[in-house]
Amino acid sequence: MSRRVAVYPGSFDPVTLGHLDILDRASVMFDHVVVGVLENPDKAPLFSARERVDLLRAAIGERPSVEVTSFEGLTVDFARSMGAIAIVRGLRVISDFESEFQMALMNRRLNADVNTVFLMTSFSNVFISSSIIKEVCRLGGSVDDVAPPVSVAAMRRKFGLDGSSR
Ligand code: PNS
Repeated sequence: MSRRVAVYPGSFDPVTLGHLDILDRASVMFDHVVVGVLENPDKAPLFSARERVDLLRAAIGERPSVEVTSFEGLTVDFARSMGAIAIVRGLRVISDFESEFQMALMNRRLNADVNTVFLMTSFSNVFISSSIIKEVCRLGGSVDDVAPPVSVAAMRRKFGLDGSSR
């Protein structure tokens, strides 16, 4: 039987517990999940694509059914190059739906062979986003329970903060 591969694309700037939750859910549905870090020249991420890939790999650990890589260009082209049958995206709140729906329909128009699969995050993660945890961390608040330790440490280094947090 052929291997069912999915891609899980995103900015992951940096990886949060919400991302890891979606990855765990995708991992039980697909034989192989390729996490794709978008190298987007239009966005000004806190972490380089290389750093974001490294943080994801460190947060995920050794898992034969998961790989992490960066990509440029269209997600559907990335999916095709990985032999994926699906694009996984996480949904937190209703307001995520509109832009995700738009993106999914555009991706289907670009490549009808790849379906977008939306997975609901757990209730404890609905309020987590990379943007919000960066802001809270930058301003000295604790984000220990919403991001993996590697992300917290990397953000604190970027923001020039010491070991203590409020
Ligand atoms: O984590 P994000 O920032 O919500 O991820 C958005 C992402 C990377 C999935 C999206 O911007 C994307 O797919 N970009 C690649 C370019 C592309 O394929 N655009 C057309 C999709 S409609």
